[in-house]
Amino acid sequence: QPKKLVEGELLANYQGIWFAAFILRATLTFQKHFKANDSDIILATMPKSGTTWLKALAFSIVNRNNHSVDESPLLSSNPHYLVPFLEMYLYKDGNIPDIDAMPCPRILATHLPYQFLPSTILDCSNCRIIYLCRNPLDVFTSSLHFALQNGFVSRPLASLDVPFETFCQGIYPYGPFWDHCLGYWNASLKNPQKVLFLKYEDLKKDINSSVKKIADYLGHPFSAEEEEAGLVEEIATLCSFENLKNLNCNKEGEMQTVFGVKHNSFFRKGEVGDWVNLVPPSMANRLEKLMQEKFGESGLTLDIHG
Ligand code: A3P
Repeated sequence: QPKKLVEGELLANYQGIWFAAFILRATLTFQKHFKANDSDIILATMPKSGTTWLKALAFSIVNRNNHSVDESPLLSSNPHYLVPFLEMYLYKDGNIPDIDAMPCPRILATHLPYQFLPSTILDCSNCRIIYLCRNPLDVFTSSLHFALQNGFVSRPLASLDVPFETFCQGIYPYGPFWDHCLGYWNASLKNPQKVLFLKYEDLKKDINSSVKKIADYLGHPFSAEEEEAGLVEEIATLCSFENLKNLNCNKEGEMQTVFGVKHNSFFRKGEVGDWVNLVPPSMANRLEKLMQEKFGESGLTLDIHG
């Protein structure tokens, strides 16, 4: 039986956010029990915004003195095992993990909206948050392919109308999409030390600058020697779509941590603007207008063409 994930029925609205029931339960456990420490790094995204890429990049940047790129754990482990999700995995099913046992700095991930982060993260002075945002047309497209590939919706897709309509209405895991982006956007404007706001499209345009920006923000800047030795480029190449997609650890098998999702379903095309192959122009125009309307005067813009 296909598990319907993106169609809305199994999502419930809690305090304005659309949650799958098991995620909401885990979120409440996480909010109650998590204790941040000063060196924590929290990676936050909307699902299908490039989370896997951001995990690979942050992990490689922070751990670059522990092993060379040739010996990176990324070569044998899917990035989701190296940087675990908080509410989606660590605190799932009422589990209270011993995260004090994790080596510091702990790199942890979440899809939760900013206002759902526990105060221990927000009040912890040096704990940092990186948010990666992606244009809604590619997020929508990527999520639909992900759902098809993992059997959450049945093939062939009967019609695009229902998933598109629900996405526009904000009914999407952790949605509405707009509120999610704006929550972190506004927080990054208020406190740029606390939240680094990145865009998938910018990473695609200039990954080397983005690698350096992440390293600077996390307090692990590249030295002149490292730059001269080409370490920035090496890390960018290690974490590139082409490289990660073709590693055995990402080509085969299923996720042990998140409801049996296929490892390879996290690596589909990795492009900006692939929505043109799924979404007809009339729908695209509507979603683009909606984005402009929702983002309003916030100053946030997302490029849908790359
Ligand atoms: P597409 O489905 O458009 O190809 P998430 O990691 O948040 O689940 O997002 C998955 C999306 O990020 C997929 O988009 C996937 O192909 C893309 N992706 C994964 N690894 C990437 C990488 N190293 N570089 C660029 N995009 C990547």
